[in-house]
Amino acid sequence: MNETGRFIGVGVGPGDPELLTLKAVRLIRTADVICYLANRAGESQARHIARDALAESDKQQQYVPLLMPMSEDRTMANQVYDSATVEISTALTMGKSVVFLCEGDPLFFGSFAYMLERLNPERVGGHSICEVVPGISSVNAASAALQKPLTVLTESFSVVSGRHSLEQLTATLCNSDSVVIMKAGLSRPKILSALRQTDRINDAAYLEYIGRDNQRIETDVGQLADTAGPYFSLFVVTRSNRNTT
Ligand SMILES: C[S@@+](CC[C@H](N)C(=O)[O-])C[C@H]1O[C@@H](n2cnc3c(N)ncnc32)[C@H](O)[C@@H]1O
Repeated sequence: MNETGRFIGVGVGPGDPELLTLKAVRLIRTADVICYLANRAGESQARHIARDALAESDKQQQYVPLLMPMSEDRTMANQVYDSATVEISTALTMGKSVVFLCEGDPLFFGSFAYMLERLNPERVGGHSICEVVPGISSVNAASAALQKPLTVLTESFSVVSGRHSLEQLTATLCNSDSVVIMKAGLSRPKILSALRQTDRINDAAYLEYIGRDNQRIETDVGQLADTAGPYFSLFVVTRSNRNTT
C-alpha cells in the first residue's frame, strides 16, 4: 500500500523569481503535483513567479489549476476549494507529493489557508500530512523596494485591507505609527481619502506589481489619480518625522 503523500503550501514571493527560498525551489522541482490559483484564462501569478523552478524539474509533473471566479461571493470560491480538496486527497492517497504554489507567503492573506483547513484534519499516525514553506510577502518586498524600515524602536505597526471601511482605515492610521494597506486596487479612492483625513498623505508611498517588470513606486501619493488601481497594489505608511536615536 502507498504511503500518504504530503500537501505542501510553498510561498514563491511577490514577483521576483530570485526571491524563492532554496527549500521552495527544491520542493517545486521534486513535486508530483503542482496546484495553483488561476483566472478563467488560466493565468496564474504564482505559477509565473515559479517558472524557473518548474522548468528545472526533470519529473513529469501534473498541473492542477484552481480556476477562481472573480467575485466577492464566497460560495463559488468554496466550491472550487471543495472540488480541489477531492482531487488533491486522491493524489495524496496515491502517495504523491502535492505542492500548492502561493504568491508571497502562504499564510498571509493567502488562499492556501482555505486548503489547509480542509486538508489538515487528514492525519497519519498522529502526524499532519501538511507542510508550509514561508515566502517573502509583498509587505517585506515593499519596504525593501522603498528602502524604508517598516518599524523602528517602539513604533507600532498595523496591516489592514483596503476593503475595510473608511472609519476603520482612519482609526488605524491615527493609532499606528506604521500601516500597510493591502488590497488597495478598487479601494484606492477610499484609501486616499483616509490618508487626507488623517493628515498622513505625506507619510505614504504607493506600490504596484512589486518585483515584476511593470513595478511602479509612487512616493508623492498626492499625485495619484482618485481612481481604482490594479489588484496587485498596496500602500506603506511610515512616520516621516520618525526618531531613530
Ligand atoms: C490575496 S493577498 C496575497 C498576499 C500575499 N500572500 C503576500 O504574502 O504578500 C493579495 C494582495 O497582496 C498585495 N500584493 C501581493 N503581491 C503584490 C505585489 N507584487 N505588488 C504589490 N502588491 C502585492 C496586494 O495588496 C494584493 O491585493
